[in-house]
Amino acid sequence: MCGIIGYKGSKNAADIILSGLSRLEYRGYDSWGVAIKNAQGLEIFKQVGKISDAKEHEEKIAKGTMGMGHTRWATHGKVTEENTHPHTTTDMKIAVVHNGIIENYQTLRDTLLQKGHTFTSQTDTEAIAHLIEEYTKTTDFLTAVKSALSDIKGSFAIVCAHKDCPDLVCARRDSPLVIGVDHKNKEYFVASDIPAFIEHTKDVLFVDDNELVILKDRPVFYNLLDGRVVEKKEHHIDWSVEQAKKGDFDHYMIKEIKEQKETIKNALAQKDSVLEGLAQKINEGFGVFFVAAGTSLNAAKSASYMFSKHAGKHVNVADASEFEYYKNFLTPKTLMITLSQSGETADVLSAVKAAKEKGVEIISIVNVMGSSLARTSDVSLLMNAGPEICVVATKTYTSQLAILHLLAYAVTGRLERGREWLKYAADKVDELTSDTEIKKLENLAMRLKDSKHMYLIGRGLSYPTAEEAALKIKEVSYIHAEAFSGGALKHGAMALIEERTPVIAFAPSDETFDDMISNCMEVKARGAFVIGISPKDNEAFDFHIKVPELNGTSPIANIIPIQVLSYYLAVLNGLDPDRPRNLAKSVTVK
Ligand code: F6R
Repeated sequence: MCGIIGYKGSKNAADIILSGLSRLEYRGYDSWGVAIKNAQGLEIFKQVGKISDAKEHEEKIAKGTMGMGHTRWATHGKVTEENTHPHTTTDMKIAVVHNGIIENYQTLRDTLLQKGHTFTSQTDTEAIAHLIEEYTKTTDFLTAVKSALSDIKGSFAIVCAHKDCPDLVCARRDSPLVIGVDHKNKEYFVASDIPAFIEHTKDVLFVDDNELVILKDRPVFYNLLDGRVVEKKEHHIDWSVEQAKKGDFDHYMIKEIKEQKETIKNALAQKDSVLEGLAQKINEGFGVFFVAAGTSLNAAKSASYMFSKHAGKHVNVADASEFEYYKNFLTPKTLMITLSQSGETADVLSAVKAAKEKGVEIISIVNVMGSSLARTSDVSLLMNAGPEICVVATKTYTSQLAILHLLAYAVTGRLERGREWLKYAADKVDELTSDTEIKKLENLAMRLKDSKHMYLIGRGLSYPTAEEAALKIKEVSYIHAEAFSGGALKHGAMALIEERTPVIAFAPSDETFDDMISNCMEVKARGAFVIGISPKDNEAFDFHIKVPELNGTSPIANIIPIQVLSYYLAVLNGLDPDRPRNLAKSVTVK
């Protein structure tokens, strides 16, 4: 949550920062601001609203070759200009942008108030600027930053600058930060995520927790705890600039939905030896926990059915935010498999921390290379889906499912068979995003767009699909959508069905088909408008969405029509599916 970027080089910093902020907007879009350092000192520009409107403000932003920017997802303090970053000291000598939460900000603020500092915002971040200023009364800027950070409790990724210092200073603890380097042009970038600067460089240095980096004539890393210089290895990122751009599409959401044929195949590019090694660990593990949040949690739930169906193996699934409460069960023989697109979700990272304290081995499946989760895991698999910019997860969900399928097949030594099924599924997925199919779903969205409620049902492998489908619909269209297992409806939720209530039913050609048709009949008899997602039509359906015959890999294909439907439910209601209200892509607070 919140996106930060900094630049030091020879170009106009504002151009680079504005385009970087627009790529980081998935992290927060309540308000945004920029600080530029030039001969006049630090010049600040702030605006409430989305960065996508920034072009019209370009002329008002100062020129200079060093600066920082921030796009905010509000935590402390309302969405106002005063609370927008960068935060500065009263004399405007120091500016700070911050992602994270300063837990002891109230104590720091009270102490600083007593010392005569004046605060102009309700944010926790402003305390950082004043604290650094307080230390500069007795020491230089860099030492002051280090001292201030050692007083801070909580999480931070910060970029800060002083009017009289030619360098940008950045640091992190429990919030993401990555450095981009272009040595040839002597340009250095710092950001919450790689897409922010990918059009300028693909060479990166990952910042670890408790590290401070000074962007001078090259980046210099220090360990904040012992003060020593840290040597870093550069990594080259193979994401393309095009992947991070919207291209001819109206929204990232539809672009990313359509990329799935490729991204599912890319997810399969895992080494057999690695998958077989993991399969062995799963077979030997005394208790296997899949841990994730949101959409990734739905993929994990799907995995529990897959492992039962394809591998005859019981695995546990835990919501990352609840995992700590299971920790008494954990032993060094437990295996934890975490799923996360961003690799930065705070709930997931704290679950990992709790597990590590018990000696648990951590496997992760992540999309963002070098993310915190990838680096704290014992083994990490990359989804290879390319950047997912839309706040709602689409392509990474099917990438996760593909990798989990591979693992389930690997557990019974049938990896090749699993790969064949998945390649077949990836080819079939293409049919679901053809222009004809998309038009059909747009028309369905037109019929459903004014609904107040929708219910989704599925059994077995399709139950988590129904849960993911409900999540997609509600987060982009704000229509209340709720998932039930087919069998659960008659135990209470049936009372909610009225004349024309939309019920979306997943009925693949597997052992759940007949029971699902009975459940559809039950709701239809009570007036529901039944939308069946199935390879074959049935009299129980009022509207049929045809999906390919995939049997065991059906969750991969069956979610796609609902991703498209959700997209149109948002668009036809005049909503921005890429930036749903109140949400941020990378949930870095607990
Ligand atoms: C839903 C969505 C969120 C994320 C959740 C976990 O569309 O995007 O529910 O799935 O915040 O994020 P990651 O996978 O990055 O850990």
